[in-house]
Amino acid sequence: MEENLSVWTSISFWRRSAAWVTGFATILLIWLTFDTIGQITMGTDKDLQSGVTKRVPAPTVINYHIDYKMSQKRGHEVPVIGHKEPFFGKEWSIKDARALLHLGKLTVQAKNCMDCHTLLGNGAYYAPDLTKAWLDPKWNNGTMEGITGKKTKEEAIAEFLQHPSRYPTHARKMPNLGITAKEAQGIVAFLKHMSSIDTNGFPRNFSKTVDQYKAGGTNAH
Ligand code: HEC
Repeated sequence: MEENLSVWTSISFWRRSAAWVTGFATILLIWLTFDTIGQITMGTDKDLQSGVTKRVPAPTVINYHIDYKMSQKRGHEVPVIGHKEPFFGKEWSIKDARALLHLGKLTVQAKNCMDCHTLLGNGAYYAPDLTKAWLDPKWNNGTMEGITGKKTKEEAIAEFLQHPSRYPTHARKMPNLGITAKEAQGIVAFLKHMSSIDTNGFPRNFSKTVDQYKAGGTNAH
């Protein structure tokens, strides 16, 4: 009787299969977990100095120029960390850069920017995605810098954050959230750092808005 049964009805076959599939999936998940941890671990200041590219660079990336360039190989834009440039008029030490970024992150959480904006894929779509906001060309090229009367991009953004209703550029207006000068600096550092994170080309429509902007439209979003 036993010998006539097909393999599909054999209990030991299913037991063995279940053990193999579970074992394989466990190993795969452990491998993926370690791979992901490696990808999302923040780089160090040394990495930046020696030109090692990390998906999430160290806080001292605020001391560098950040560009957004098309990668033919990957088919989307990637952040490119360039030459050193002053941030709010100086070079930030590892400790100070970390503290500033921390203040920015806490302020972004306390003021709940995600109520209206999206950060790294989380948040709302009432207002522009902030993931690459630092790279938005409206801050320089004489537009926002000119309107706010500030000489650098970081000062223009900090000024906007403290008095958004003074500089409306879209149909929707951002409310004044009572952000202090120091908090605004922190937020700008947070935005600059976030723009340097390799997000596999997300948000997808960002480069399109930049192209539209370059083509002459000011209401790019
Ligand atoms: C009630 C909704 C709301 C909240 C909360 C809000 N914003 Fe905005 N924000 C807007 C709107 C609307 C705009 C577009 C207005 C404009 O540019 O004139 C905007 C624009 C911006 C811009 C310019 C983006 C770009 O590149 O065009 C930045 C940067 C920004 N917000 C940062 C923040 C930060 C940081 C917070 C939290 C501290 C925050 N916002 C909280 C509604 C909001």
